[in-house]
Amino acid sequence: MKWTWLLPLLLVALAASQDESVEEELSLAENCDQEACQLPNCRCSSTDIPGNLQARDTPQFVLFTFDDAINVLNIETYRSLLDNRRNINQCPVGTTYYVSHEYTNYQLVNELYNKGQEIALHSISHRTPQTYWQEADVEVMRREFGDQRQQIAHFANIPTDAVKGVRMPFLQMTGNATFQMMTEFGLEYDCSWPTVTYIDPGLWPYTLDYASIQDCVVPPCPSASIPGKWVLPMVTWRDLNGSPCAMVDGCFAVPPLNDEDAWFQFIVSNFERHYLGNRAPFGFFIHEWYLATNQAVLRATVRFMDMLNNLHDVFMVNSADVIDWVKNPIPVDEYVKQPCKTIQSSQCSATSCGPLHSVHNSMDYWMQICTSCPQSYPWIDNPLGQN
Ligand SMILES: *[C@@H]1O[C@H](CO)[C@@H](O)[C@H](O)[C@H]1NC(C)=O
Ligand SMILES: [Zn+2]
Repeated sequence: MKWTWLLPLLLVALAASQDESVEEELSLAENCDQEACQLPNCRCSSTDIPGNLQARDTPQFVLFTFDDAINVLNIETYRSLLDNRRNINQCPVGTTYYVSHEYTNYQLVNELYNKGQEIALHSISHRTPQTYWQEADVEVMRREFGDQRQQIAHFANIPTDAVKGVRMPFLQMTGNATFQMMTEFGLEYDCSWPTVTYIDPGLWPYTLDYASIQDCVVPPCPSASIPGKWVLPMVTWRDLNGSPCAMVDGCFAVPPLNDEDAWFQFIVSNFERHYLGNRAPFGFFIHEWYLATNQAVLRATVRFMDMLNNLHDVFMVNSADVIDWVKNPIPVDEYVKQPCKTIQSSQCSATSCGPLHSVHNSMDYWMQICTSCPQSYPWIDNPLGQN
């Protein structure tokens, strides 16, 4: 009998310890509460146009993004696409670079930044196999992305807080881990998550405060509530057979690679689904090598850009600019009256370093950077090459 008083005590103690562990864990996201979830910092996942604007009053944003290392070869394509190119409001166009570290020339990262382009993260190692990313926990994400933000800011001499976005290698989602890491490091958005379901009308960017309606194409996708972190959905294209593709160079049934006209039509038909629909941001997600090896596709792309730059309600902008607009949506006639962004230019004291030994694969590398040389080739767990 004397134990009967102990049992309630034990239960209370047990409940308290469980409460603590629950607090450390993430909580499962609930269905979105439209009343509680309001801009600028919360948005339910939906195909509704932000600010309840009519499609005809909504700026059509077009996002050109390029993945992987920036080097002396692909910079030529980037320069040729960007030089003297302006939107209809006379502001310079924006493009976004999801940069992986290996073989990246940081002097060229500095150049793109100074041209007003967006520099974003695509991991330090970009390693295979893909299961490394699929199984990655938040600690792996810290070392691959949190550290990469510091690395890129250091070697390219650009402000850390200019780096806001993330794209996973192989578009392999990591469940909650990417977004937990983004919270810890103050990153703003992820652009790795394709949607096949919500393309017509297209899914607009949204936050992870509440459960997402988005289809999970490359699981695991996040299911926890991660307040204030933005998903910039990769609204897929349709190839000529109607199959979806997240990256343009991942489309399967495409026009002949030497047929500029057919490619131009192919691009425009995908664009029109957005422009004549709910004006969800139109992604032109590609690797530069595809344009360099297929000159007709490059010419079709240039023709498409020329067309965009002559439309009164279409804007080629950086990915982070789209998130900014969604947070504070304004109609296109107001948008065009805004002054162009100004960038504070960032110096580069060009330095060439090497040979730099790399512990992870015993290779020697050369690095082109804007600061003084590291001791060794930077890698995960040694992002600045200090040891
Ligand atoms: C994400 O967090 C939720 C809530 O804690 C959990 O139920 C889910 O299993 C997590 N997802 C992954 C892939 O870890
Ligand atoms: Zn990549």
